[in-house]
Amino acid sequence: MKHHQSNRRRWLTRLSVTLGSIFVFRKISAESIQTPKSAEGPFYPSPSMRTADVDNDLVKVEGVVAESGGEIITLKGVVTNKEGISLPGVRVEIWQCDINGKYLHTGDKQNFPHDTAFQGFGHDITNENGEYTFRTIKPSKYPSRTQHIHVKVLSGEKDLLTTQFYIDGEPNNKNDFLFRKLSEKEAAAVSMRFTQEGDHTEAVVNIVV
Ligand SMILES: [Fe+2]
Repeated sequence: MKHHQSNRRRWLTRLSVTLGSIFVFRKISAESIQTPKSAEGPFYPSPSMRTADVDNDLVKVEGVVAESGGEIITLKGVVTNKEGISLPGVRVEIWQCDINGKYLHTGDKQNFPHDTAFQGFGHDITNENGEYTFRTIKPSKYPSRTQHIHVKVLSGEKDLLTTQFYIDGEPNNKNDFLFRKLSEKEAAAVSMRFTQEGDHTEAVVNIVV
């Protein structure tokens, strides 16, 4: 009986995952514009600068007991091509400064230490439905920039997209030299609209390459 129930539960889970991705897929094919490219910036962490832990949970660094400072968020979405076909097995990388605005990079000369509990850089590989997900923090203010998360999408070694995600409705956006270059539609494509899902805050940003 127990066995039967868990099989049934597994089947229902699989069904809801499938239905969920069909829904997401429909939604993006209806409104998709190509995700606008943006500058890589000076702080893309070269492999030698990364922590040994480069998974998709930036709030937890392996071997460090504490979680990083900052408001924890889930950032997720689907990666598709221009035709709306989801792309499995694609590498999505993100990097951002810690809660105090410090990058995990020797080029960041601000005179205070990086939050060692914040991974600063991480990656995910899209699953069979083209979905990626990260656990990270709401981006913090960095001098002369509005809050942003850097994003890179790669297929093998091939760079498909380099861009930046912003907080939807953030007042600092209007003063940001990169954000201001975006049309309204482009800005919407790279904006994180946060919603409260149970006990966590999440934003869905689909990526079209
Ligand atoms: Fe940056």
